[in-house]
Amino acid sequence: MAGTGLVSFHGSAVPPDNFLEDVVAGLSLPQKQLPPKYFYDARGSELFEAICSLPEYYPTRAEISLTRQHIAEIARFAGAGCELIEYGSGASTKSQILIDALAPVAYVPVDISESALRAAAAQLAARFPWLNVRAVVGDFGRPMAIPAFGGPGRKVVYFPGSTIGNLTREEALAFLRMTRGQVGPGGAMLVGVDLKKDPNLLHAAYNDAQGVTARFNLNLLHRVNAELGGDFVVAKFAHYAFYNAPMGRIEMHLASLERQMVNVGRHRFSFAPGESIHTENSCKYSIEEFQALAALGGFCGEKVWQDAEGLFSLHGLVAA
Ligand SMILES: C[S@@+](CC[C@H](N)C(=O)[O-])C[C@H]1O[C@@H](n2cnc3c(N)ncnc32)[C@H](O)[C@@H]1O
Repeated sequence: MAGTGLVSFHGSAVPPDNFLEDVVAGLSLPQKQLPPKYFYDARGSELFEAICSLPEYYPTRAEISLTRQHIAEIARFAGAGCELIEYGSGASTKSQILIDALAPVAYVPVDISESALRAAAAQLAARFPWLNVRAVVGDFGRPMAIPAFGGPGRKVVYFPGSTIGNLTREEALAFLRMTRGQVGPGGAMLVGVDLKKDPNLLHAAYNDAQGVTARFNLNLLHRVNAELGGDFVVAKFAHYAFYNAPMGRIEMHLASLERQMVNVGRHRFSFAPGESIHTENSCKYSIEEFQALAALGGFCGEKVWQDAEGLFSLHGLVAA
């Protein structure tokens, strides 16, 4: 993909051809499920940004204020002039705080949502005209080529927004190991991780009064209809999110409001009343749980920043 000035685009248009395959496989399981990465078409990315400013959705505010409050220490940890690679960069809002402080030699935002990446790249080019931005459209769950700079700076992977919480334990481990290989010896990672807390706060954050999270969840069905020729009657499904304490995660589902049949391409699926499609997990960690996972992934926890209320944490990890 081409670019302008110091901004260039790499990677291939997403979703790849296995969108249909993933949907058919997921809807064929006893507990129907759809991979959360498909939330993020242009509309999904817009809705996610709207979620970030909801009064109930504390993670974005908590992580931004944590980052601002500790930015000098975070900058010392990451190292000025590093190469900053961000996975699931979305609107690149939090990264702008880091870019200001770190003046990285290059910033590589990676996201599955091309529209979010393009909007973010335009903003970055305007705010940081000196910055080399190499945007990559791709799925971080698969091997992908990251543009190499070959400079002397340390490689630092940034993974904010508790996106790691959307991964299963196995996926999170695979992701940590992949990034460990990528940053190499001496490399580092900054990960934003949402913490275990009062389930009522968690419940409110994923069941906002304005129904934006519901629209975000239901948008997945609109997307299946639009891109795969599905015939979901979206009004016959409801957003359903709850905290599963034994699993330590918020689960988002789309629950069928009645007995119905749905077609996707040549495939036909039946739904009983109340039967759900599991669309997303948002795993919550204690500091110790996440540090243990990071260690298995090949990283040592060097720094942890958290807010006074214990809502959110930012982990500074170094390659073990
Ligand atoms: C929870 S949002 C976080 C956005 C932003 N980093 C923040 O902190 O607000 C997840 C982001 O990751 C992207 N994403 C989700 N799954 C992905 C995947 N498998 N590969 C690449 N990007 C993905 C989404 O498009 C979205 O921008």
